[in-house]
Amino acid sequence: MYGLPRRSRAVLMGLILFIIGSTMYLKSENLAATVPPIRSYFPHSGIRLAPGEAQFRADAIREAYVHSWSGYMEYGYPKDELLPMSKRGGNSMSGWGASVIDGIGTAVLMELHDVVEQQLRIISEIDYTQCEHQISLFETTIRYLGGMVSAYDLLTGPYSWFIQSGKGQKNHDLVQSLLRQSVALADALKWSFNTTSGIPMPFFMLSEKRIKSEDINNIAGFGTLVLEWTRLSDLTGDPQYTNLAQRAQEYLLKVENPEIGEPFPGLLGTNVRLNDGKFLDSYGGWGAMGDSYYEYLIKMYAYDPQRFRRYMQRWIQAADSTMTYLTSVPTSAHASKMLFVGEYSHSRAVALRGSHLACFIGGNFLLGGQLLDNMKYNIYGLKLVEGCRATYADTPSGIGPERFGWDPNLVPSSQKSFFEKNGWYYGGEIDYRLRPEVIESYYHAWVVTKDDIYREWAWEAFVAINRTCRTEHGFTSISDVSRADGGRKDDKQESFWFAEVLKYLFLIFNEEGIQAKERIGFVRGKGQKWVFNTEAHPIRIY
Ligand SMILES: *[C@@H]1O[C@H](CO)[C@@H](O)[C@H](O)[C@H]1NC(C)=O
Ligand SMILES: *[C@@H]1O[C@H](CO)[C@@H](O)[C@H](O)[C@H]1NC(C)=O
Repeated sequence: MYGLPRRSRAVLMGLILFIIGSTMYLKSENLAATVPPIRSYFPHSGIRLAPGEAQFRADAIREAYVHSWSGYMEYGYPKDELLPMSKRGGNSMSGWGASVIDGIGTAVLMELHDVVEQQLRIISEIDYTQCEHQISLFETTIRYLGGMVSAYDLLTGPYSWFIQSGKGQKNHDLVQSLLRQSVALADALKWSFNTTSGIPMPFFMLSEKRIKSEDINNIAGFGTLVLEWTRLSDLTGDPQYTNLAQRAQEYLLKVENPEIGEPFPGLLGTNVRLNDGKFLDSYGGWGAMGDSYYEYLIKMYAYDPQRFRRYMQRWIQAADSTMTYLTSVPTSAHASKMLFVGEYSHSRAVALRGSHLACFIGGNFLLGGQLLDNMKYNIYGLKLVEGCRATYADTPSGIGPERFGWDPNLVPSSQKSFFEKNGWYYGGEIDYRLRPEVIESYYHAWVVTKDDIYREWAWEAFVAINRTCRTEHGFTSISDVSRADGGRKDDKQESFWFAEVLKYLFLIFNEEGIQAKERIGFVRGKGQKWVFNTEAHPIRIY
């Protein structure tokens, strides 16, 4: 799966399942009719953490960062990520040391001064014009460009302690190098937008610089660039970067061939041709290859409501269609509180299956609900959080699987009793890759409700991950969440472990620092200063 967008690795399996026809045909009207009244749902659990507990937990998560970072520096660096079992490095992200760039923002928030200084020095020396590996524009944008502009925003804003800390000019120069390196990276990549349509190529070699307009890209692949490229333009005053990203995005804001590309209002197909910007298919959803396109529609509005109003309108279309056509209530004991969102196939049939990747959706609906001051999205978002929580709470390991389903007609016979009890079943891929999405949604749910139940859930997830994924030199992906011990240790510490999992966990417990000062999460009526990119890098809003 090397090279596929992060949120897209599950897609091949998904496609195969589609083709086998594992789809339950449900009329959309029926689905809508099954949604229970949700107005009544926003109660406080009454759970409150004991004094000092949040600080204790924040410290435990900081310790996990230091443990992971030490392992990476000892065995992984200068490669992209640590392979903690075989004690070496892996280069799955272009080979510029992805964990350093993906990790710096979290280290800044944790105020790990020495680590930040080390990371800044490494970043200042990267040569972004050279790369022997295939480059994914999507991954490079969200991890590297997002990581650098975010660290620049943090270190020139609320975390200017670094510049002020005695080393004066030297540290000032290191922080400035973040912006210089962001420009260098974007300048090295920007030729990839020079296709016939202006939709960039998903993958390319810097050594070849060959435009392939006969390629295809997916909507997450080119619909998840606009925040990072726009921030770079706003920081430098040079509009070329945002112009490139916005031009590509136009094909998603207004679909050229909606009869194929827009099966439900605002919900799109997946793959788009680079030569003319037309959609090739009608399947999709909030999982792999679609996910962060929808995510950024509302986040661009958070970033600048003047410039990105159309994006917000497009998000509302997608959100409303999701509520109308994709909502599904599993037949579980706790069904009155939870919802799942299905995926759609070429025939608009809704398949009752989901993925860990798509579990960011609860948090995204909560962000939309807060920004638009619309309770219906908040309530819906909390129910989605509850659904994804079930996929963690019901497993022996305490961690949710990569894929799951809840179609009563497709329950594997070996899982009949599991399904009877829990209302969902494991869906083919049962590993855990240190992904953040469920915890990310807990974070947003906690910011919106201030109900400590979401902190309890986040802590349970951390304790489970710490128990099953921790190794002597860092943390690893595991093969089987249906076993209490997590099965085999799969030997990869993804860079998003630093960027996302540890950051959302830290922020949900850290009561000082930026959380109090600047409100990284959005609180209605209080003013928002930051928005997370899809890699959890906080970007200062315009
Ligand atoms: C884009 O491609 C055209 C030819 O297709 C070429 O003339 C032009 O110089 C290219 N622009 C950039 C910025 O590479
Ligand atoms: C995490 O695991 C380490 C090593 O087993 C242990 O010392 C530590 O107490 C654990 N932390 C939590 C919060 O469970």
